[in-house]
Amino acid sequence: MLVPGKIVLDHAFANHYAVGAFNANNMEQVQAIVDAAAETQSPVFIQVSRGALKYSRLIYLKHIIQAAAEEHPEVPIVMHLDHGNSLEVVKTAIGLGFTSVMIDGSLDESGKKALSFEENLALTKSVLEYARPFGVSVEAELGTIGGVEDGAGVKRIHVTDPAQAEEFVKQAPVDSLAIAIGTSHGATKFSGECVLAHDVQQEIHRRLPHTPLVMHGSSSVPEELVAIVNTYGGKMPNTKGVDIPQLQQTIQHGVSKVNVDTDGRIVMTGAIRKFFVEHPDKFDVREYMGPARDALRDMIKGRMIAFGSAGQGPKIKQINLEQAKQFYAR
Ligand code: G3H
Ligand code: 13P
Ligand code: ZN
Repeated sequence: MLVPGKIVLDHAFANHYAVGAFNANNMEQVQAIVDAAAETQSPVFIQVSRGALKYSRLIYLKHIIQAAAEEHPEVPIVMHLDHGNSLEVVKTAIGLGFTSVMIDGSLDESGKKALSFEENLALTKSVLEYARPFGVSVEAELGTIGGVEDGAGVKRIHVTDPAQAEEFVKQAPVDSLAIAIGTSHGATKFSGECVLAHDVQQEIHRRLPHTPLVMHGSSSVPEELVAIVNTYGGKMPNTKGVDIPQLQQTIQHGVSKVNVDTDGRIVMTGAIRKFFVEHPDKFDVREYMGPARDALRDMIKGRMIAFGSAGQGPKIKQINLEQAKQFYAR
């Protein structure tokens, strides 16, 4: 069933686990995500970026995610906008039936200029004001996660200031806050070892003891998955992801949602490359998309177990957006 983000985030926060948030662009990815959730009895965020919305021409992904919810009414599924960068995009997502939105006020709409604290706050407040009457949950971002995003160019990491985080949430009481502690999007997150600012993360949690925190850029980029891509004709040098034990440490200190996209891209690409090399005679789309979907499902199941969300789905009392409106009105 589609549920508001807050229901899952609050449950994860209270029970010291994190819900995995996985990006989807097409049917196979949505199926892999929901199958992994069903098989591990996990709640899950299926998240859609602006690029994914555009690629899927808005209504296709909406209906595919709704189909997943119809097929698996027992799974608490949050349909989430990833990195929305304007009130207009948020309005589009809510109009489509999304149950959760992220407003990323780290850069302006052009993706070229950093928004000030005040500008980010004002944008986030306008989204809160718009989303609340619909019962839709809101995630904001403070600080800058590195890497490449839609139209954003390459962003420098800017670690979140704990005092600013406290002030931000006081003024804009969002359902969750994405913080930057050294991760970045993509397959090359570190030039050496994975180093996260755990002290900063723990200080943010100390100052915001009731706010679920979100970790972006959290793919682990496993060497064995990259090796499959490279063995079968790919070229992915200098990859380095986030260590899972370090992620687990953040989950003990208020991180309740962990975003993973790159690992899914790598695992599907590897499976498809392998299939093409091993079966140069085949040309049935289902024959290579099927194994890619299975490989994605298995990777996601591993993350759900590692993040502690496995087995938590049936413990969440599912509510719809209509009921969430009353929740927020309290
Ligand atoms: O945060 C970025 C996600 O990995 C989505 O990437 O904007 O290329 O769809 P995308
Ligand atoms: P990765 O690039 O590490 O998978 O991060 C994904 C993400 O943060 C999506 O919002
Ligand atoms: Zn992100």
